Amino acid sequence: MGVAASGLALLLAILMAMPTARGADAAALERGRYIYDAAGCQGCHGGPGGSAAGAAKAKLPSGGLGLDTPFGTFRAPNITPDPHYGIGSWSEAQFKAALRQGIGHDGEYLFPVFPFTAFSKLDDRDVADLYAYLMSLPAVALANKPHEAKPPFGWRPLLVFWRALFFAGVPLAKDPARGEDWNRGNYLVHAVAHCEECHTPRNFLGALIPSRAFSGNIDGPDKQNAPNITSDVKTGIGAWSLADIEQLLKTGMTPDMDIVGSGMKAVVQGTAKLSDADRHAIAVYIKSLAPIQVEAPPPKTAAAK
Ligand code: HEC
Ligand code: HEC
Repeated sequence: MGVAASGLALLLAILMAMPTARGADAAALERGRYIYDAAGCQGCHGGPGGSAAGAAKAKLPSGGLGLDTPFGTFRAPNITPDPHYGIGSWSEAQFKAALRQGIGHDGEYLFPVFPFTAFSKLDDRDVADLYAYLMSLPAVALANKPHEAKPPFGWRPLLVFWRALFFAGVPLAKDPARGEDWNRGNYLVHAVAHCEECHTPRNFLGALIPSRAFSGNIDGPDKQNAPNITSDVKTGIGAWSLADIEQLLKTGMTPDMDIVGSGMKAVVQGTAKLSDADRHAIAVYIKSLAPIQVEAPPPKTAAAK
């Protein structure tokens, strides 16, 4: 065999490897988009609508939407790959530090209104896929808007205390005694879809109260009233079947033929895109929650619909 023949063999090998490499990338982007939808990134990081250009951009996470909380209004930043205004210059390691540890590009602490406390439980592949997906989006050159937090909640250095008290950053442990579905549901509920961010009440420093997990929060973001979703029959969803929960996550319809509104509407836009198996896993996990009876189930706010 001459040099030319081995060169040809090498060229053939490269050509044959190429479609596989591209195939793997496409799969990573597809998985990244799946996690992006399930995690509701767009719900917070969406951009302004209004003008025609703005409406087109609204599908991209160019930031600016305000999230009303008892601690002030927070505006999610631009996370499109614009090198100046977005995260285009971020390495995957920097992105991972933001999601997993709540540490920004310049080493600053990020406000926990960004649910990094949940995303800290995301596994390596999901974070890598999210990064690949975000970097594949068109860049939008739109400057971030400042938060309007109430003092002292807008002062980043104070977050060091908050983190010491409330942020452990431990990954989720698999429970081998429970089935595959329960473990997958546990991961989707806690690491990805962060259901507790709205359905668990918070203490006066804005941290979730673990003993009241999933028992509802009348003071949810954007003044939402997120109901008790533990298995308490009277004040929670103990009377719902697995199929009822799956139906809600797919269509937004409750067993009373009510369509959920406010923040849950955006959540359903994400869970509607999940596979049936993943919706089933979430339902299995939610059904397993121990009942917590809440004192006075707050009436649903019709205005929020
Ligand atoms: C509940 C609303 C909310 C959701 C959901 C959310 N974010 Fe954010 N995110 C924020 C806010 C608010 C900030 C700004 C935090 C700060 O200024 O400290 C932020 C900050 C970030 C940052 C740091 C950007 C920077 O310029 O410092 C990244 C990266 C990020 N989010 C990515 C994501 C991804 C990826 C998802 C989905 C997996 C997601 N976010 C879901 C609200 C949210
Ligand atoms: C952004 C805040 C938010 C997040 C995140 C969220 N929810 Fe909700 N959820 C709500 C609100 C608000 C309602 C009440 C909607 C209404 O009454 O129209 C609700 C309603 C529900 C209901 C109906 C309960 C009833 O009694 O009618 C279920 C079940 C539910 N959510 C499950 C979940 C699950 C499972 C997740 C995670 C996959 C989740 N939610 C994530 C805010 C949220």
